[in-house]
Amino acid sequence: MRRILIDADTGIDDSIAILYALTSPNLRVEGITTCFGNSSAAQSTDNCLRLIRLSNCGYEVPVVTGAEHTLDGAIETAPVHIHGENGIGNVILPESSQKPLDMDAADFIIRKAEELDGELIIVTTGRLTNLAEALQKDPALPKKVKRVVTMGGCMEAPGNVTPVAEANIYGDARAADIVFRAGFHMILVGLDVTAKTFITEKDLDGAERYCSEKSRGAVAYIREALKLYFEFHRLTQGMVHRSFVHDPLALLIAEDASLGEYKMLRAGVEYQAPAFRGMILTDNRFQSELDHDEIAVCVRVDSDKAIRRLFSVFH
Ligand code: RIB
Ligand code: CA
Repeated sequence: MRRILIDADTGIDDSIAILYALTSPNLRVEGITTCFGNSSAAQSTDNCLRLIRLSNCGYEVPVVTGAEHTLDGAIETAPVHIHGENGIGNVILPESSQKPLDMDAADFIIRKAEELDGELIIVTTGRLTNLAEALQKDPALPKKVKRVVTMGGCMEAPGNVTPVAEANIYGDARAADIVFRAGFHMILVGLDVTAKTFITEKDLDGAERYCSEKSRGAVAYIREALKLYFEFHRLTQGMVHRSFVHDPLALLIAEDASLGEYKMLRAGVEYQAPAFRGMILTDNRFQSELDHDEIAVCVRVDSDKAIRRLFSVFH
């Protein structure tokens, strides 16, 4: 059983990742912190509370609202045609009676890391602002967690905000630079693999046909929320009845890293030069066997296996 904390900007793909995590028997979600990105952090929190209710996970999952802006105070959220007015494809899920914890998200991350004594895996599916703030409060944090798995970045694939930058890294590039250089055991799951992995209408047909009674609501929600996401992929990528799989892939890899192949890199993020903001910078001189602080960048993934596993938890 892997014990994870999810830090999300709960949009459509984040919500599928969260439902997966709450349903998988191999994962225990110790908490969720939220961040601006696909919507405001407050909206992301509300989405998480509703998703927890929908999941029927059977245990309590604390949710804490985090950063509403970048480390430098900028507020930028995704255009509504990607994730909808409410971040989850304009689907209205039943309200939850659960309230978010009234505490600072960075403090919550630090507290959980200490409580779990080296067992915690942090999975980020949005900007790295909350994690950078946690590091600023506790620079020893990398020694206290097992691993960080981050959906973000692009090495060879084109970016999705600028030609060189992916949204989660671009969205708070300075925070990403702080996290990349902090010395975490980090896995980066970026567009090089997430834009080669697809959810299709056929996968949804199968999920609906085989889902358990407990997961029927979750699967119906996924189908409904993906309508807008499929449309966004049709308009921007010419893809028909399908979408990339960004955030769920990070969760799948956090659960089982053997789904991917990795290249070890020492990396930082450009945050000063506007044209290159969010671009990952690598130092090719370092020697992985001698040096530390490198990041495992996922360069290949078994996409078929990943998608099978993604939907199998709802059976
Ligand atoms: O670039 C893809 C990422 O940006 C995903 O995490 C998506 O949810 C958005 O935040
Ligand atoms: Ca996200």
